[in-house]
Amino acid sequence: MTTPKTSPEVGGMGHSIKRKEDPRFIRGKGTYVDDVVLPGMLYLDIVRSPHAHAKIVKIDTAKAMAVPGVLAVITGADLAKYNLHWMPTLMSDTQMVLPVEKVMYQAQEVAAVLATTRYAAADGAAAVEVDYDPLPAVVSPQKALEPGAPVLRTDKKDKKDNHIWHWEWGDRAATDRAFSEAEVTVREQIYIPRIHVASIETCGCVAYFDKVNDKLTVWMTTQAPHAIRTVFALVAGHVGLAEHKIRIISPDIGGGFGGKVPVYPGYVIAVAASVLTGKPVKWIEDRMENLQADSFARDYHITAELAAKKDGTLTALRIKTLADHGYTDAAANPSKFPAGLFHVCTGSYDLKAAHVEVDGAYTNKPPGGIAYRCSFRVTEAVHTIERMVDIMAHQLGQDPAEFRKKNFIKPEQFPYKSALGWEYDSGNYAGALDKAMQTIGYAELKREQAEKRQRGELMGIGISSFTEIVGAGPSKHFDILGLKMFDSCEIRVHPTGKAIARFGTKSQGQGHETTYAQILAEELGIPAKDIQIEEGDTDTAPYGLGTYASRSTPVAGAAAAVAARKIVDKARRLAAYLLEVAPEDLVYEPGKFSVKGAPNRSKTIQDCAFAAYTNHPQGMEAGLEAVSYYDPPNLTYPFGSYICVVDIDKGTGEVKVRRFVAIDDCGNIINPMIVQGQVHGGLTMGLAPALLEEISYDEHGNVQGGSFIDYLLPTAVETPKWETGHTITPSPHHPIGAKGIGESATVGAPAAIANAVVDALWHLGVRHVDIPITPPKVWKLLREKGVTE
Ligand code: CDP
Repeated sequence: MTTPKTSPEVGGMGHSIKRKEDPRFIRGKGTYVDDVVLPGMLYLDIVRSPHAHAKIVKIDTAKAMAVPGVLAVITGADLAKYNLHWMPTLMSDTQMVLPVEKVMYQAQEVAAVLATTRYAAADGAAAVEVDYDPLPAVVSPQKALEPGAPVLRTDKKDKKDNHIWHWEWGDRAATDRAFSEAEVTVREQIYIPRIHVASIETCGCVAYFDKVNDKLTVWMTTQAPHAIRTVFALVAGHVGLAEHKIRIISPDIGGGFGGKVPVYPGYVIAVAASVLTGKPVKWIEDRMENLQADSFARDYHITAELAAKKDGTLTALRIKTLADHGYTDAAANPSKFPAGLFHVCTGSYDLKAAHVEVDGAYTNKPPGGIAYRCSFRVTEAVHTIERMVDIMAHQLGQDPAEFRKKNFIKPEQFPYKSALGWEYDSGNYAGALDKAMQTIGYAELKREQAEKRQRGELMGIGISSFTEIVGAGPSKHFDILGLKMFDSCEIRVHPTGKAIARFGTKSQGQGHETTYAQILAEELGIPAKDIQIEEGDTDTAPYGLGTYASRSTPVAGAAAAVAARKIVDKARRLAAYLLEVAPEDLVYEPGKFSVKGAPNRSKTIQDCAFAAYTNHPQGMEAGLEAVSYYDPPNLTYPFGSYICVVDIDKGTGEVKVRRFVAIDDCGNIINPMIVQGQVHGGLTMGLAPALLEEISYDEHGNVQGGSFIDYLLPTAVETPKWETGHTITPSPHHPIGAKGIGESATVGAPAAIANAVVDALWHLGVRHVDIPITPPKVWKLLREKGVTE
């Protein structure tokens, strides 16, 4: 769809209307959790462990209790009285709320201080004296799995090692056969390090248990309010918190990116403190707590092999991965897939055989495995296949663009069943790559590179032709803690033709208030400005699984269209009544029904809405409302081709991204301006792990990268000028032909940058560089290769 169907005044799909939410944001009038202030509110601060692994010998609260304003110090022993010291993780593992016996990572919650002001709570936390008996820390997942490694999860009575699970997918025998018959194979060790979403707003909540009405309301930074309500009810039902007495409100959210899906101990402690005191309790993390203790992403140690014929036809992919999950598996993955959707790792290529194995390991680190702006491990999958394809192309001496085109799944092969079982809905991969090559001037760049190489200059061109997999999900395969993954939209059209629509998702800055209104405007012909969109309040919104993994458009966006079509059906019957014709004698264009052959005889959707409340036919229910709980038949598969040009400074090892062209395809576009914004932000969040960001640990489990001094976010200075464009290949099964876009750029960008760097260095014998590709790392390589002194 290239030309909008509706007028700019209606503002349906394809119009770059301004974001409806921005007037409140740019005036500083958003309501974030920390803006919620209730009378008599108390404050919580948390005591955190300096050790990565230690027994708790004693917690002395006397000095803390003497701090003016401190009301209580809550410990694991206090919570244990109510059996609330452990809680389930989203992957059905268990996680401490507060420890009773030992701590498992540096910065873990040890105790919480409740006070009348935030400062008193912080002073109280500093005054809590904890006696620790340090234990040896297990930091590397490889060492964690060695025989004789200290067993970390001593709380699990039968656990004899640190192995969490083994998971494999694909046809092992066929893959092994393809490798034994292969003419060329390449193999690489790829580490994708721990990173953190580092959203502008940290996590926090205000919990208020109203003892009179027996009702718990929690304003919290969550991407999935309904699922959280259910989990709270399941975990705390035994202390009287029933689901209808719990209201989760997710107000404005300052960035989530997957980091606001899990339940963190602070939320639970705040709820417990409010239930006990009957007062509102606020807990807001500071920046370092957020970086050091909240869930992390990636941390995959991958061994990948790719097989091909000499002519460059790819034949098979084999991957073994070790996943570092920290001390508990708290990944926000669908239950059936402990390694998320990593098995979309055959990417955009027509590979006949593939096999993937992943093992999870416990270490003395915070829980990992959140889907940082990606659909459950898709970034790891894309990085692996895009690096491997590039290595193979270079190994065979073939141009990486032509090599990709030779192996792409062709447009006529869709719907395409991958060797690992996914059914790709639609795609035109060569179309996107051709457009990227034309935009960047690929042939000319190749000539420039050859000349520069003659002069000893280091210039690289990197491509990433990725396929995403978003829109979890078909409920037959996807659930979280047993909750099936669907999503919802409920529409109420008021008598005067204005409307309100509520959704089970929750925007964290993506612009849902605008784009959902545009989908409804497209279907109903009611101007987008006349449709109010609400999400995030479990007392009012229909049940849904929330926003992450770019699922809002594929799932709730589809629910919007389906619910709107139900409204149109009823409006048709109302129009037929008003015009005294049969419903099938009416022609519908968005917003208007007219009589076939008599276009002057017509009724608008607003006329129908008024009639629904003032003049509806006898026998028909009054009102104009509809709801849809949409269970998608399949996921959607957005894709794109990115080309990056880098120059490497031989003196410093600095990688400069000179140009970056991103061609994305997310099917039919709802709002081009918002899509471009999503791609710009996503590209910057892709540049970040490629060149800057990493959280690592020393051998004692001390975190390196726990503050913005050494966890380097890209600023405007490091961010290049992104050149964006798109192709449009609609999803055949989505009601409006749309696919997700929120995460494509974060998923696709790192491989383009890494491929460009290796391309610049390949002639020196460099085959792979792990991200982040920092100046010291490159400088060291250049020294090893004798390029610099
Ligand atoms: O789930 P999340 O909102 O993070 O991701 P998404 O569904 O990919 O949507 C991100 C933003 O881009 C939303 O405001 C969408 O409505 C918008 N979008 C669009 O305008 N056209 C598309 N084809 C896909 C998304």
